[in-house]
Amino acid sequence: MCNPALWCVLILASVYETNAYKLLVVSPLPGKSHAILGEGMAESLANAGHDVTYMTVYLPDKPIPRVTIVDLSENLKYFPTDGALNIANVLDNTSSGSNFFAFVPILMNMSRNTLNHPNVQKLMSDKSQQFDAVLAEWMFNEVYAGFAGVFNCPLIWLSTVDPHWMVLQLVDEMPNPAYTVDILSDSIAPLTFKQRAIQLGLQIMGKLLKILWVSGLEHELYDEYFVPAIRHRYSSVPSFETLRYNASLILSNSHVSTGSPIRLPPNVIPIGGFHIKHDVKPLPENLQKLMDKSQHGVVYFSMGSNLRSKHFPDVIKQDLLKMFSKFKQTVIWKFEEDLPNTPSNVHIVQWAPQQSILAHKNCIVFITHGGLLSTTESMHFGVPTIGIPVFGDQYVNVQRAVKKGYAQKVDLSYSMAADLEKAIQNLLDNPKYATRVKELSQIYHDRPVLPAKSLVHWVEHVVKTRGALHLRSPAFLVPWYQKLYLDLILVVLVIILALKYAFRYIMNRLFTKRKEKAN
Ligand SMILES: *[C@@H]1O[C@H](CO)[C@@H](O)[C@H](O)[C@H]1NC(C)=O
Repeated sequence: MCNPALWCVLILASVYETNAYKLLVVSPLPGKSHAILGEGMAESLANAGHDVTYMTVYLPDKPIPRVTIVDLSENLKYFPTDGALNIANVLDNTSSGSNFFAFVPILMNMSRNTLNHPNVQKLMSDKSQQFDAVLAEWMFNEVYAGFAGVFNCPLIWLSTVDPHWMVLQLVDEMPNPAYTVDILSDSIAPLTFKQRAIQLGLQIMGKLLKILWVSGLEHELYDEYFVPAIRHRYSSVPSFETLRYNASLILSNSHVSTGSPIRLPPNVIPIGGFHIKHDVKPLPENLQKLMDKSQHGVVYFSMGSNLRSKHFPDVIKQDLLKMFSKFKQTVIWKFEEDLPNTPSNVHIVQWAPQQSILAHKNCIVFITHGGLLSTTESMHFGVPTIGIPVFGDQYVNVQRAVKKGYAQKVDLSYSMAADLEKAIQNLLDNPKYATRVKELSQIYHDRPVLPAKSLVHWVEHVVKTRGALHLRSPAFLVPWYQKLYLDLILVVLVIILALKYAFRYIMNRLFTKRKEKAN
């Protein structure tokens, strides 16, 4: 026991122990990809020695050390997998793929279901529950800012999509719409005259809708669920507007390799790719063998975890199978049910270990819906893509990938098999797509620290500095009319008018005096 090195380790360990923070991760959206990010966040923080309480509807496959789950799995039943967000509805134009008006009420309801859940109620009313910081996912409303009020601690947003005006305005000013686009649009800068006008319109409309409509719904939820919980603990209750704009940091699931290099305030930290583990899990044996022996390469096809391929109409499924059979390549298709008459080169899997498939050297094409997780993973492993966007930010993600030169876009339509065939052939014939994605992948990987490390560092920084007030943008404290210098314009106008009248007055006096003298 006299070994100094050992003492060192013991002392360090005890210091470390006292630096363990209690963190609340709020990621209760009933969408698998959102849970992958929430869980990745909880796990990264727990691995760094912190005690994490993680609110989710998807329980992790196995318990994670130092992570306590607030189980909201019952709320899965409210998720409209067979409703709004389904391939058949988008095809038939009966779904509102990326319509703000349809999004907001759905997401508001999800927030209500979360706050209404007995386990969340219990957490809020239990005064022994204290946290050093709340990390909450932002999804078209800011209701969860209320948790920072309940636990009286710093707030950190997780933005699951590329930085855009709706989140940036929470810690700084709105970015210029002339070159930063709305998350539900698919325009890419440089914008045409029309696109630029539309983007300005979207920002103004969005802001007005927020003030006139969404804000009312948020205040309702805040008053109903958070105000009583805060009153239960403290004597005074902050206003919702104060909490809404009081976040210390935004952790942004984005990176310039897949996104747009717009300027970010110092408290917006891009951590895209943090959910991808350093060591990729080995493939299951059958897939490993299949991919190893696919000498012409593998085309991997998955519409993600929320969209079900089974909602593809039968004609399209049959067309796709027929089309795939023309290729020498192996096709691995993530499909949730058995398909009859599959050609010999098509391999159906109900669940796909996506990262492990993309990591295999024989994976040469990834057909994806263009969700940001799939986009990030294609970048991480350097696989060119064919994007078939269906809703939300998928349109803009796919457009960006096309513009960056490592992807092709195919529209979801009844003739998509023919379009997809052309796109696959194009990717196979032109090595430029693969070369480009490898180049971008190098940029993606060339960072001073791994994104998961960066995540942990910044969360600790916020707790250590009690809310990182030193990172708050001064722009944020200046009213809009001052930013537009309307007050200065007013002062200048007043001076000009004053001078004008003074001049006239003096001239009048001089003139009349001269006249008097002349008389
Ligand atoms: C705003 O955030 C800071 C830093 O986290 C915190 O000290 C302050 O109490 C918060 N304000 C309110 C009203 O919650």
